[in-house]
Amino acid sequence: MSLKYIPLIVVLLLVETIIAQKKLPKDYLTPDFHQSRREALRESMPDNSVAVFFANAVRNRANDVDYIYHQDPNFFYLTGYKEPHAVLLIFSENQHVNGQTFNEIVYVQKKNPRFEKWLGERLGVTGVKNQLGFSQVFNGEDFKDLPVDLSTFDKIMFTPFENDVRKSGKEQPNLYALIQEFNTKLQAISTTTSTGIDDKEITAKQSVDNKTLRTLMGKLRESKTKEELVLLKKAVEISCIGQIEVMKAMHPEMSEFEVQGIHEFVFKKYGAEFEGYPSIVGAGNNGCILHYIDNNTTKLDNDLVLMDLGAEYHGYTADVTRTIPANGKFSKEQKLIYDLVYEAQEAGIAAAVIGNTTRDIDRIARAVITKGLIKLGLINSDKENRLYFPHGTSHHIGLDVHDLNTRGSLLENMIITVEPGIYIPDGSNCDKKWWGIGVRIEDDVLVTKNGPINYSALAPRKSEDIEKMMQEESIFKNYSLPDLNAK
Ligand code: GLY
Ligand code: MN
Ligand code: MN
Repeated sequence: MSLKYIPLIVVLLLVETIIAQKKLPKDYLTPDFHQSRREALRESMPDNSVAVFFANAVRNRANDVDYIYHQDPNFFYLTGYKEPHAVLLIFSENQHVNGQTFNEIVYVQKKNPRFEKWLGERLGVTGVKNQLGFSQVFNGEDFKDLPVDLSTFDKIMFTPFENDVRKSGKEQPNLYALIQEFNTKLQAISTTTSTGIDDKEITAKQSVDNKTLRTLMGKLRESKTKEELVLLKKAVEISCIGQIEVMKAMHPEMSEFEVQGIHEFVFKKYGAEFEGYPSIVGAGNNGCILHYIDNNTTKLDNDLVLMDLGAEYHGYTADVTRTIPANGKFSKEQKLIYDLVYEAQEAGIAAAVIGNTTRDIDRIARAVITKGLIKLGLINSDKENRLYFPHGTSHHIGLDVHDLNTRGSLLENMIITVEPGIYIPDGSNCDKKWWGIGVRIEDDVLVTKNGPINYSALAPRKSEDIEKMMQEESIFKNYSLPDLNAK
């Protein structure tokens, strides 16, 4: 072996040692993945255009406490950078500036030992170069000196910003300042458009476009790569194991919060970082509120419990719903409604094939539910098909729980939910015996050349299989905590 490789080997060993010391997961997406996504976007961009992406904003909860930071999914997809206060520019063609050639630049948060002491280490310019594989990396404060003249592009594409970013920041430039800087640059060159910040109209000479990029990103993100599918499958399976543990542990004395907690304990145990969306645990009538997130009912009693729970693993989120009887056995009415939703879901899953759209899946599942509800005397005709089934049946998942897409036909390696439901709130215009029954069954289904693959098949779905699973012994059996009210 040549001696010239020795420095490289030393660096690799050092990196290995650092990873081993930190005991970090080894299955993050690689810099090559993110680079390939930037390349794919570049190929889809119009000639002589630039795409501009901003990191997500830090949002303040109150006083010294911010909401937990989560990167913007597009920014993460294209960079792997998980920190705030950053802006990425991707050029459709190589730019030649001061003897350098490049087709992308990223501005990131500067290293700052004082803040890092409180909030953790930042990658900084060197870290982004070494760990994320960018060559043109600068501190945010240098964005004002962007070495490329934006007025030379035929199209400047960006996504509109929501005007909820705080003006003040403990250090500069924060995201607001970066967006202001971008606006200043646009103002110099604009036709009429609004960037959505300050709601100020700006005028530019060439095409400033805050719509196309969403379509281009949707086209990229709607079909998953094999690396993404590994993470999605893991997110879904972890969520299913969480559902299974809840099924085993559930009893009528349990609270909605406890259900949420058991699921969260399981997904954290497997290394999933976040909920992909706020957990929905609704007993009885609460299950009829589609996105109920209070989860504060103290006793499940003999109700059906609707549990819409999705773990987010390394950025990718599951979206799995199971509805189960708190006492382990479906009542007659609960079972009739449950089995009808199941039948509709089976038809929907079978329709998750190349060439269909999510609207086709909705139409097919809805037809089953409509027919069944008419038969049960709960509705009179097809016209009432949305009365007890008021939402759509299917959406893409990925980095977002409702993932970006182009609303076209399904293609290989798209992953979608199939989630019909029936919700009969208290006070509905029907026999009282149906009141407070809310059922949704939601699975995450991969579209393949050989038909649908249900990634969430691990968690029982059939009413009989759920009842059987609920009889199995729970790891949470007989756990008890001190009673704070005991004398
Ligand atoms: N968990 C949100 C949804 O099912 O769409
Ligand atoms: Mn969903
Ligand atoms: Mn859901």
